[in-house]
Amino acid sequence: MDKKVTMDKIVNLCKSRGFIFPGSEIYGGFANTWDFGPIGVEFKNNIKRAWWKRFVQEDPTTYGVDAAILMNPTVWQASGHVESFGDPKMDCKNCKTRHRADTLIEAHSKGKISAEGMTNEEMEAYIEEHDVKCPVCGKRDFTAIRKFNPMFTTSRAMTGDASDVVYLRPETCQGEYVNFLNVQRTTRAKVPFAIAQIGKSFRNEITPGNFLFRTIEFEQMELQKFCKDSDSMDIYNDYKNRALNFVEDLGLASDHLRYHDHDKLAHYAKAACDIQYLFPMGWQELNGIHHRGTWDLSRHQEFSGKNMNYLDPITNEKYLPTVIEYSIGADRLTLALLCEAYDEEELENGETRVVMHILPALAPYKVAILPLQKNLSEKAKEVYSMLSKEFMCDYDEAGSIGKRYRRQDEIGTPFCVTIDFDTLENNTVTIRNRDSMEQIRLNIDELAKYIQDSVKFN
Ligand code: GAP
Repeated sequence: MDKKVTMDKIVNLCKSRGFIFPGSEIYGGFANTWDFGPIGVEFKNNIKRAWWKRFVQEDPTTYGVDAAILMNPTVWQASGHVESFGDPKMDCKNCKTRHRADTLIEAHSKGKISAEGMTNEEMEAYIEEHDVKCPVCGKRDFTAIRKFNPMFTTSRAMTGDASDVVYLRPETCQGEYVNFLNVQRTTRAKVPFAIAQIGKSFRNEITPGNFLFRTIEFEQMELQKFCKDSDSMDIYNDYKNRALNFVEDLGLASDHLRYHDHDKLAHYAKAACDIQYLFPMGWQELNGIHHRGTWDLSRHQEFSGKNMNYLDPITNEKYLPTVIEYSIGADRLTLALLCEAYDEEELENGETRVVMHILPALAPYKVAILPLQKNLSEKAKEVYSMLSKEFMCDYDEAGSIGKRYRRQDEIGTPFCVTIDFDTLENNTVTIRNRDSMEQIRLNIDELAKYIQDSVKFN
């Protein structure tokens, strides 16, 4: 990771430029929640659209859904979340803060040690042996490690007793499993096929978040591929490749990405892998690819009493498909892309410009329209009105042209169109490229196509 990028710089830029604000800020904030501002919402929507385009729109074997956040509570018994979903937490007796033991170990070893397969006793021993201290007060005085279930609960308030408890989903994929039969029947899909969705998930995370990296409310982009067990490892490897290609195509540098194959697997799994990204705080999980065997469908079959078997129309064989899952957090990916895009460049005149080299297809605004002087605003607004039918555009007539370029550089706008007095004469404008800062002159009639060709995501 380039030393210029720090989490503080990213957080400050996001706040000052309208990408992301602290949640409920006027009330002093609400830990690990963030609100996307006018620039951030465009950026994240473009990321989600790119994922959907790549994995749903362009893949004839994948079908989208948008399932309810609040599900029948039995779903979470079937999934195992009620019984065994949980993080190893411990409290600092000195400063009364709560921590995840696995995260402390991983941070202390700078990502060299994975606590994935460790028992509570092994983690406690590691913490003692390596003198892992509380990151808040610097003391090592922890309680024993206990399991903490991070599912948020709410209540339907029907009877007022425990039977009213409803969970806010901690992952979106259960909405895909419970709709397996509905989607297969209505689309007449043949195995292998996938169900995908993008939506909010909620986890009562106890570890401090590192900005968007770990939040209590976040969006997941998840996909479950239902396949024959004999094909499952090929499909698993295929998604490992596709997942890596996708984030590289969005602009993450290959030397900031690596696979992390899991050593310890769930009893039903044949393989599991993360793709890690080199965030400013070190190598951390960006997404997961999991071989889940028939675990999910068999559990839903058991708990719902519904037969979840697939009938192969050619062989007449009935079986529960194996599932390969690909899961990536939209917010975590947003953070990785912000870190990757951030740059401070020395200019020839000795000044430094902050520029976000965001992939044009993901840029919040594709173009900014800047009249050189206020009395050119009528023509500039005409250009804005024409281009805004095609793309998100910004319009800015305040301040020197140099300052306006800098503002657009900081939010990653790939093109700035300047309207000057020649525009009134010959219908041409100057278009400036964010990365090279080169300027060319174009006829207004050619603008939309020129920009369109540069901002496509393939
Ligand atoms: N259905 C599988 C599943 O949820 P996970 O590894 O717990 O697996 C998948 O989560 C992805 O969701 C992660 O790789 C990460 O990108 C994102 N994610 C998980 N917890 C998150 C959190 N608290 N804040 C932001 N993103 C999170």
